[in-house]
Amino acid sequence: MISETLQKARGFEAKYAPFIPNGQRPAFHVTPAIGWMNDPNGFSLYQGEYHLFYQYHPYSCQWGPMHWGHVKTRDFLRWEYLPAALAPDMEYDQNGCFSGSAMELPDGRQLLVYTGVRRRLSPDGRTEEIQTQCQAIGDGVNYDKCPANPMLTDRDLPAGGSALDFRDPKAWRDGDGVYRMVVGNRTRDGSGAVLLYESRDVQNWRFVTTLDASHNQYGRMWECPDFFPLDGKQVLLVSPQEMSPIGLEFHAGNGTVCFIGSYDPETRQFRREHVQAIDYGIDFYAPQTLLTPDGRRVMIAWMQNWSTTCAVPHDCRWFGQMSLPRELHIRNGRLIQTPVRELEAFRRDRVSYQNVLVNGETYLHGLRGRMVDMTINVRPASRDSYTCFRVNVARDGEFVTTIRYKPDTSILKIDRTRSGSNADIVHTRSFLVRPRDGELELRIVLDRYSVEVFVNGGEQAASAVIYTPQEADAISFDAEGSVLVDVEKYDIVCSESSEERRPPNETGHYPGHR
Ligand code: FRU
Repeated sequence: MISETLQKARGFEAKYAPFIPNGQRPAFHVTPAIGWMNDPNGFSLYQGEYHLFYQYHPYSCQWGPMHWGHVKTRDFLRWEYLPAALAPDMEYDQNGCFSGSAMELPDGRQLLVYTGVRRRLSPDGRTEEIQTQCQAIGDGVNYDKCPANPMLTDRDLPAGGSALDFRDPKAWRDGDGVYRMVVGNRTRDGSGAVLLYESRDVQNWRFVTTLDASHNQYGRMWECPDFFPLDGKQVLLVSPQEMSPIGLEFHAGNGTVCFIGSYDPETRQFRREHVQAIDYGIDFYAPQTLLTPDGRRVMIAWMQNWSTTCAVPHDCRWFGQMSLPRELHIRNGRLIQTPVRELEAFRRDRVSYQNVLVNGETYLHGLRGRMVDMTINVRPASRDSYTCFRVNVARDGEFVTTIRYKPDTSILKIDRTRSGSNADIVHTRSFLVRPRDGELELRIVLDRYSVEVFVNGGEQAASAVIYTPQEADAISFDAEGSVLVDVEKYDIVCSESSEERRPPNETGHYPGHR
């Protein structure tokens, strides 16, 4: 049944989303139909297509009562908008349908599992949110919320667990036919934990164990957990709030943490062996993964950070975008991320240079663009021959986004100070990289309003949103000292995308850029 609240959201997006010209959106990164987007939800395969839902407030570019927006794709690059899937229209989710997941049921229906939020006044006059886990079942477009909702409440928490922070269920079906689900929770010490639940019939769930917990070491509440096997190891992803900084690995605030370890399915015990950040850039949060039919583990995330959401550009009609979907692997005990291989089919107009000597700012013929997939290999021209190397993108006389490397400290810095936003937000992030035999490889993907950097074959990734006008499309290299550079650059053209079905806006400005 489509409630009035959902009908209203669907009517709103159908009426007003067409006012956003395609040229004012990224070409191959997901943006909301209209309004606000945060976390990816329900990233999963359904009847041969990849579905992605998202935390959605269609009515403004600010977070508000959460709906689920909906898109689908066959290739991770060209996305088709579907009508909003969920609205906060029941007593148990009247204040929001928060994050969750999706899967295809054996009978061909699609199951959505999400957090229902209901506010109440506490005895001492504070507004608090009761969070429960709920389900909806549908056909890939329309969904009915289950009469038994909510299916998990405070009664299903382990001792000391909090019903006020109990959210973001990620559910899947294992080879043994058992449904499993991880949910974020806050424990007695005030920090986060990941709870594991199991069900044989997808209706009755039972708490099994606490898989891992922060103990106030990696942030406070743990949001949006995901848990999956990868290359012989087990991976737990969490997005902690209120992290304390740890060196250049973790910055303060909302972060993303990857625990790599081992898992014993008999005892349901997860043992950490390695901890690292997932993305070292500015804008990346709440990642979620799916498994493709050919066995690839693919991750997508909200390419934003809560601390920068105050910088909504003036007059914009959409805010928030997803990262490029990334294939995950483990190499030498670390997480490896590379853009989905489907991207390669959209590469056009190869430009390539070898052994270019760079010893000052250098522009190379054919190197420009804002929808680009470019790989650079940089090495010293002779022993200790340089102290700093820069790649400048989205550049003109006024704007520039810089990726800077200093070999003496092995620090890579992403700097978007002059990338179209004058908001007082984080504009730079630095992190340690591991050059191999003095060589550094940087793969840089640009898509109008973002920069994603993949270092040394995906050993590290760093993402940042930019607001730079599209005319600023020069790319240059710069060195203090001298380096040798190889570069291979392609334009990305999603030709059969809706891009060509609607006239792009000629101004080429970020919606709201002045
Ligand atoms: C993470 C998060 C989730 C929650 C959702 C609400 O960004 O805070 O924990 O479900 O956003 O929109």
